[in-house]
Amino acid sequence: MNARIAPGSVRRVACVGAGVIGGGWVAHFLARGYQVTAWDPAADAEDKLARLVEAAWPALTELGLAEGASQQNLTVADSLEQAVAEAEFVQESAPEDLELKRDLLARIDAATPAGVVISSSTSGYPMTDMQQRCTDPQRLVVGHPFNPPYLIPLVEVVGGELSEQWAVDWAAEFFEVAGKHVIKMDDEVPGFIANRLQEAIWREALHMVANGEATVEQLDASITAGPGLRWPLFGPCLTFHLAGGEGGMAHMLDHFGPSLKSPWTRLEAPELTDDLRDRMVRGCEEASGGAAVADMVADRDRAIIEVMRAVDKVKEAR
Ligand SMILES: NC(=O)c1ccc[n+]([C@@H]2O[C@H](COP(=O)([O-])OP(=O)(O)OC[C@H]3O[C@@H](n4cnc5c(N)ncnc54)[C@H](O)[C@@H]3O)[C@@H](O)[C@H]2O)c1
Repeated sequence: MNARIAPGSVRRVACVGAGVIGGGWVAHFLARGYQVTAWDPAADAEDKLARLVEAAWPALTELGLAEGASQQNLTVADSLEQAVAEAEFVQESAPEDLELKRDLLARIDAATPAGVVISSSTSGYPMTDMQQRCTDPQRLVVGHPFNPPYLIPLVEVVGGELSEQWAVDWAAEFFEVAGKHVIKMDDEVPGFIANRLQEAIWREALHMVANGEATVEQLDASITAGPGLRWPLFGPCLTFHLAGGEGGMAHMLDHFGPSLKSPWTRLEAPELTDDLRDRMVRGCEEASGGAAVADMVADRDRAIIEVMRAVDKVKEAR
């Protein structure tokens, strides 16, 4: 099977499930100028969706609406079949329940025109586990967003064992055209990438509260007044690259490598082999494009000041 339409030519998108994430997708696609059809079985879904889109619209307007973008381009369908009948792309955002997703994706697959890619917002189920009951499983992929999907750019795209590469490539290109930052993954890893990182912090936070080691307030402040300020510009790897001074990641690992054996977290560290050390050093060189550490430090400092000022402005306006 081939894609029915080029990613850049899509005009009609269907969103199945219209809660926090599905509604957020609806707002995003409307702001990008798409015609959106939504379906959700809840009795109050239409009102809730209208409220979510209305609440998101000022932020989306400030960010800049695409030409022709309008809340009027939303149709709430009476049935799933009606919602997807003319769709050129489908995003599923139903509750995180494997059995429900297996059945629902099979129903979506049966009702969606051939060659149209179907993407799931699942937070962590591998597509391999969800696509089993579909007749055309090759067009199903995971397109994992972050809340709120109308503001956070990241979408992690990955296929399952029965997905075909064209569908993964098509979805990645479509999300890019639709204004997203895409990470295309070759392998299915439960939780994908960002949720694994987020979950490591989350689980440690829960452990610390359970053991009376920190309060909720302390935990949040430890990020918002601490490392969180560094992450908007450089992620955790390049941030530690700078912690190594002029010696970058190589010095950082040689200096702090032994700390990996210390009980600083309940998550066990991998063995810091020469291969792992080399991959981290090489990865930082590639990710930084070979930029000098001193220049990156200057950029980091400017970004921290900008982030602190932006957050202060929001706090003052409360
Ligand atoms: N909330 C998050 O931060 C987040 C982030 C990324 C991904 N996700 C994923 O997005 C998906 C949706 O999560 P959510 O937070 O929006 O949940 P939610 O509970 O807010 O919304 C789920 C919606 O699905 C509807 N629904 C129930 N049964 C359905 C069915 N059979 N078919 C279609 N719709 C149905 C519900 O009425 C509800 O409106 C989940 O897979 C979740 O893991 C959530």
